[in-house]
Parts: sequence; structure tokens; C-alpha cells
Amino acid sequence: MATLPLSFDYGYLAPDVDLDEVKSFQDNVDLAHKKVTQGGGLGSDYLGWVDPGKIVSKDEVKIIKDLARRIQDNSDALVAIGIGGSYLGARAVIEAVGEGKGPAVLFAGNSLSAHEHQKVLNAVAGKRFSINAISKSGTTTEPAVAFRLFRDALERSVGKAEAKGRIVATTDAKKGALRKFAEEEGYATLTIADDVGGRYSVLSPVGLLPIAVAGIDIDALLQGAKDVAAAADNPDVTKNPSYFYAAARNLLYRKGYVTEIFASFEPRLHYIAEWWKQLTGESEGKDHISLFPASVDLTTDLHSMGQWIQQGRRNIIETFVILDGGEPNLKIPGAENDLDELGYLQGKSLFEVNHAAYQATALAHRDGGVPNSTVHLTELNAYTLGALLYFFERAIGVSGYLMGINPFNQPGVEAYKTNMFALLGKPKYEQATKDVQGRLGQQKGDTTVTFG
Ligand code: PA5
Repeated sequence: MATLPLSFDYGYLAPDVDLDEVKSFQDNVDLAHKKVTQGGGLGSDYLGWVDPGKIVSKDEVKIIKDLARRIQDNSDALVAIGIGGSYLGARAVIEAVGEGKGPAVLFAGNSLSAHEHQKVLNAVAGKRFSINAISKSGTTTEPAVAFRLFRDALERSVGKAEAKGRIVATTDAKKGALRKFAEEEGYATLTIADDVGGRYSVLSPVGLLPIAVAGIDIDALLQGAKDVAAAADNPDVTKNPSYFYAAARNLLYRKGYVTEIFASFEPRLHYIAEWWKQLTGESEGKDHISLFPASVDLTTDLHSMGQWIQQGRRNIIETFVILDGGEPNLKIPGAENDLDELGYLQGKSLFEVNHAAYQATALAHRDGGVPNSTVHLTELNAYTLGALLYFFERAIGVSGYLMGINPFNQPGVEAYKTNMFALLGKPKYEQATKDVQGRLGQQKGDTTVTFG
């Protein structure tokens, strides 16, 4: 088997968790592995992501590439509209390895902020742009509102007829408002398979179209995932970094650790951390259990959150994602005098200094009582990123089963929506409107404190 670009270092998990303890968890891992690869567990109708060779067909990849080329030819910008799983994967990949070859990919519909949407509307004003509306359900409020805003702007700019050729809808094969609308208007469409949930959809048409428009090699991205998927078919924790990580974080959770911090020393991995937080949080945060996923950007946050991590309450674990190479060879220059006392760094590369910062931090945090482990990537490119994404997907699928929950549903995300629809007067929510308004009045009363 080809050497994979990814490995897992568990050295600083000990003494909290060591190799023997992880090995002794193998039976549980075998069971979880079986559920992920063969079904039979909770949520098993959402396992379409497990084989990245099947998540998107060759024909679909060709259609995606053709659409991407068309957008690259006729647009200065693509507005990718989506939220949660229909947004974070594409953004994470584009921020990490976007090559600046394609048009700018701008994101909308991932909040209800008027300011953010105005900013993107201003950015495309007077420019040639296209829209990719991404929503599996087709009914999510944020992207639906943004789609109205940007469709309106596009139609005003180029007319309704041309706008139709500049809109791609990525949605369910049959159901939902977006599918219906796209068919009525004659937009190009891409399909989100029934068995792929949002947070596992980055390697499906959901993520692949914006990623391809950004000029990223989607074949390489998929290949990275496929190679890790093939290797992950061996459930032996000593030969499967994904499963070692899944087992270790479960053992640590059972020992009272409640927060896992994703930490990287590379700012372009910021949105990978955001993607990972959704993957872990939405998969495992139910039945009142599981690790809370947090993240820090280092070394930046060593000057803010570093204090807490080193000496705050001791119930956190940390997972570093580290690039071992492939970075620019930026050498620190000499200076006539040594007033800044950096002479000892002269001639060293910034990469070397950053790596020393990582090694120093991992050791200091271990000494401070934070069990930590490291996912090493040989370098960052489309292929290695595909490997990293799949490493975490497979790990969290298995980890969720080890936690004893359904890793593939998200019942909790609905609760606020009922209240919001009631407050905004959505048809059929009339009774809820009365209830919510009553409760806001009774429960809250006047609870504001003002100066003076
Ligand atoms: O992971 C998920 O299922 C969610 O984050 C969804 O992706 C998100 O709510 C957006 O849903 P939709 O694609 O239906 O608009």
C-alpha cells in the first residue's frame, strides 16, 4: 500500500491514556467499525459518505467540472449560498488550498446578518457573477433568504433569462422547495444523495462545485479520501490512526474530560477547525453527553487562550493538526544590529520556528495536565486535505458509535426554529406564536438592567 500522507502521534496522551488501554478497547472499536462499514447501527441510512468512491459518480464529477469551467469562463465571482453542512466543507477546503486560479468564491446564507449580506452584495455589484444555491432540505431559512437576495441582484444585473444560466441548485433529488423551484425555472442542478448528511457532504456535489470553481483539483481531493478510506478498512487501532484517535478521545471522555480543542499552527486551517467542530458537535452532542469541540489558532491564540489552556480547569484535551513540510522557505534575515535580540534566529526558516513553537506548546500543555495528540500531515495540498477530511469523518462516525449515540442525526437543531418561525409569524405557526409570545412575557418580564 502507498504511504499515506497522514499519521497520528499519541505520545502526550499518556499517562491519561496509553497504548495498552487503547488496545484493550479494540472489541468496542470492532463493533463500531462494523456499524460504519456494514450498517446495523443507529442512523445506518446515512452511510453514503463511507465510500468516497461512491459518494459522487464519475459522470457527476464530469458534470461538476463542466459547470465549474462554465462559471470560471463567464464569472468574476461565485456566490455559494448554504449553511452548516451545506457550507463549511467548501469554505474549509477553499480557505486551506484555494489556489486563486478561479473566480472568487464568496459565501452567503450562512447567517442572518444584514451587514454580511450587504457586504457580499457590494462585492458582486457591477461584476459578472454566478450563484450556487446549496440546501439539501431546500427549506432552511438562512440560505433561502440569501437566495432571494442574490437571485434578485443577479436578475436585475443581467436579466431573468441570463440569470437562469448562471444559477446552479445543489439539492435533494426529489424533495424540497429548492428542487421544485429549480425545475420550474430550468436551473442546472446537482443532487445530494439521501444517504449523505450535511456534515459528511464535503466530498459530494455540495462541496465539490464551489471547490472546483476555486481551481482546486477535485480528483486529487477525492483520491486522498479514497486512499484513507481503503486503509481504514483495517480496524486494528495500532494500524488505523482514525480509530486510534476515536478510541482515545472516548477513553478520555470516560475519564472526565469534557472539551476537545482542535489546535493548529497554520491560519489557513481555521475553517477546517470550523468544519471539524460541526462534524464532531452535531454528530456527538446529544443525549446530554460527549466532548464539547472547541478550537484555537496558534500561535495567535497562545497570546489569549494560551493562559487558560495551560492553567485553567483541568478537563480539556487537545488535538493538534500539524503540517510537516511543503511550506514556503522564508528565511529570517540578518540585521545590522541585534537590538531586537533575534540574532539567534538569523538564517532559520519561519517554518522551523513555527514547528519549534508547536513542539514547545505540546510539551508545555502536557506538563500543564492537558492530554494531547497530533495529526501530522506531510504537507497541505488537495490530496493530503482529502486524506485529512476523511480521517476525521471516519473517526467521528466510529467515535459516535463508541459514545453510544446516533452519529448521523441532529434532532436538537430544530428547537430554536419553532420559536423563530413563531416570532416571525410563519403560516401554520399561529398557536406557537401565541405560546412563545406568552412565554417570553411571563418568563422574562422586564429583566434589563441599565446604568443610572
Ligand atoms: O449537517 C447538517 O445536516 C446541517 O448542518 C445542515 O447541513 C444545515 O442545517 C443546512 O441544511 P440544508 O442543506 O438542508 O439547508
